[in-house]
Amino acid sequence: MGLYRIPIQLEKFVNPGTIVVRSPGRINLIGEHTDYNNGFVLPAAIDKAVYVVIEKNETDAIFLRSVDFNETIETTVADIKPAFGHWSTYILGVAAQVIKKGVMLPGFKLTVYGDVPLGAGLSSSAAIECAVAFAMNELFSFGFDRRELSLLAQHAEHEYAGVKCGIMDQFASLFGKKNNVIRLDCRSLEYEYFPLELNEFTVVLFDTQVKHSLASSEYNVRRAQCEAGVSLIQQKYPEVKSLRDATILMVNECISKEDASYNRCKYVVEEIARLQTACQDLVKGDVRAFGKEMFATHDGLSKEYEVSCKELDYLVEYVRDNPAVIGARMMGGGFGGCTINIIHKDAVNEIVTSLSDAYAKDLGKELKHYLVNIEDGTSVI
Ligand code: GLA
Repeated sequence: MGLYRIPIQLEKFVNPGTIVVRSPGRINLIGEHTDYNNGFVLPAAIDKAVYVVIEKNETDAIFLRSVDFNETIETTVADIKPAFGHWSTYILGVAAQVIKKGVMLPGFKLTVYGDVPLGAGLSSSAAIECAVAFAMNELFSFGFDRRELSLLAQHAEHEYAGVKCGIMDQFASLFGKKNNVIRLDCRSLEYEYFPLELNEFTVVLFDTQVKHSLASSEYNVRRAQCEAGVSLIQQKYPEVKSLRDATILMVNECISKEDASYNRCKYVVEEIARLQTACQDLVKGDVRAFGKEMFATHDGLSKEYEVSCKELDYLVEYVRDNPAVIGARMMGGGFGGCTINIIHKDAVNEIVTSLSDAYAKDLGKELKHYLVNIEDGTSVI
């Protein structure tokens, strides 16, 4: 506590009865679209976060205020329902999950503000869900642990945002640790921290500034295609419960190459294995070998999993042959958002300038970039 400051935008809402919680966005080094397939991921919490101020009101009324949208919403505990596409749905979704747990939820007043760019693939939605879940848990002493809160937040996303996401984003927001990446086993939820030591290299995110509208519907389609692939494999290998248990031989044997599930499952099985190799590279300090795996992930996401888009592919292709860039790939769910790049510190400025010019000239869009620091997960501040 004490390390993170209350943003100036929220100061006027703080009083002796309030609790302020910070919950960060995330990056993911490698292991994409593996979480809902029970594989591994390698995320880290970042220095962009969502903040909530919460207080009791001794009634069953719920008052919600978004500083970013300059809007207030009022409802009651008895009347909680999804508001798809609206910022309040993430908060109400968490409240609904708390009630589903059989816990008595009183009314409350909550104000939210954040500096995680929306739609950039840095998990602003998980950050708000986790901030709210953590804040309610503190305010009303529900007694949930971080693992339970992460699952609760994930289910809020499923039911109130309509995205059948895995556990990575919520887990990373709640369990982040300064200067460390988290190797998370999404089947057991066992995890290990690794210090991210990139020596003369650094992480740079390039934001396409696009979010294609098919992002959430196609996400759910990918998940269904993976599940369909597992059903086909199970006909021969009933012990396979998810793609985590499958091998590439099983995929080749049980799924026809004509079936849309084939390329999806092939990518996921290879990505789960790739993460293991990439982690060994990191532990050995072989950052260059790690970077090569990132390019391979991008190729799989673009050509086999088909969740990239022209803007993301452009950004990766532009840096691919630059000796100062040792790894790059699209990050997160896809169809827009950011690429994550590992770039030599001395070359960052020059690459940012030339890539921004090229992106504006060739795609007619402004490019944003972020130099992120790795920070701690959710806490009261
Ligand atoms: C989104 C989801 C995550 C994960 C990634 C892809 O961020 O919320 O659960 O599936 O996409 O790796």
